Amino acid sequence: MAEADGNGGLNRWSLKGMTALVTGGTKGLGHAVVEEFAELGATVYTCSRNEAEFNKCIHEWEIKGYKVFGSVCDASSRAEREKLMSNVSSLFNGKLNILINNVGTNVVKATEEYNEEDFSFLMATNFESAYHLSQLAHPLLKASKAGSIVFMSSVCGVVSVTGGSIYGATKGAMNQLAKNLACEWAKDNIRTNSVAPWFIRTPLADTVLSNKEYLEEVYSRTPLRRLGDPMEVSSLVAFLCLPASSYITGQIICVDGGMSVNGFYPRHD
Ligand SMILES: NC(=O)c1ccc[n+]([C@@H]2O[C@H](COP(=O)([O-])OP(=O)(O)OC[C@H]3O[C@@H](n4cnc5c(N)ncnc54)[C@H](OP(=O)(O)O)[C@@H]3O)[C@@H](O)[C@H]2O)c1
Repeated sequence: MAEADGNGGLNRWSLKGMTALVTGGTKGLGHAVVEEFAELGATVYTCSRNEAEFNKCIHEWEIKGYKVFGSVCDASSRAEREKLMSNVSSLFNGKLNILINNVGTNVVKATEEYNEEDFSFLMATNFESAYHLSQLAHPLLKASKAGSIVFMSSVCGVVSVTGGSIYGATKGAMNQLAKNLACEWAKDNIRTNSVAPWFIRTPLADTVLSNKEYLEEVYSRTPLRRLGDPMEVSSLVAFLCLPASSYITGQIICVDGGMSVNGFYPRHD
């Protein structure tokens, strides 16, 4: 059984010397996580599909002095995931401290309207990619002797929200996977947790929040009466990967302005 190393002091709040793979790092939450990790001293590998945006980000990170590397990869493809992990393994000498399964997307429809393609696309992008990348990362995380996986889930995997039943199911599956792996891989000193945000200002969220009526509904369901900022999610993701959180595993933590514990729909202010 792994014991706490008793390493007190400020080192508990640093990722110096650690390596991380963050999928989908060029926009939104993934971008915030890459920057948070780099600020905390980690060396980061990331990926995304759009080559021009990817190169622009890498260039900006270089200017900021961050140690961020990566490659273009579609995380919904099994072959590309294998190539991605092989790149990571070569760069980090077969070891990895942190895997952030961040890639995910949504197609919002009523359940009766979803077709086979919608189902396969969302399952492959949101759940299968996270499942397979965790499998591929296992030997690297184990070799690091202190591994951590964070699943970028959603409150939609914890409570029901209007529409998006496939999305909710993929996020619920990630939450359960975090619990299973926490127990299965504890022997390898790998911790696994899920972070479950409600609406955070990102390009993905903006596609639905441009609907003013829906935005009002979101505010009315959120006790803090505002959307979240990507940095309010990346701080929790970072915490879950720091030595400071070394006794936390198998948890699903909501970053939601209180949405998931709000029992009332109508505004009460
Ligand atoms: N924003 C929210 O309100 C919110 C709330 C709850 C949960 N989440 C979850 O948080 C995660 C990130 O969401 P976000 O809002 O930051 O999304 P986003 O703004 O769309 O950013 C997604 C990032 O992932 C990359 N990406 C998307 N599909 C990919 C694929 N198949 N392979 C590789 N890279 C891919 C994108 O770049 P390319 O397009 O170039 O590939 C981009 O860098 C998702 O899992 C989402 O479900 C978000």
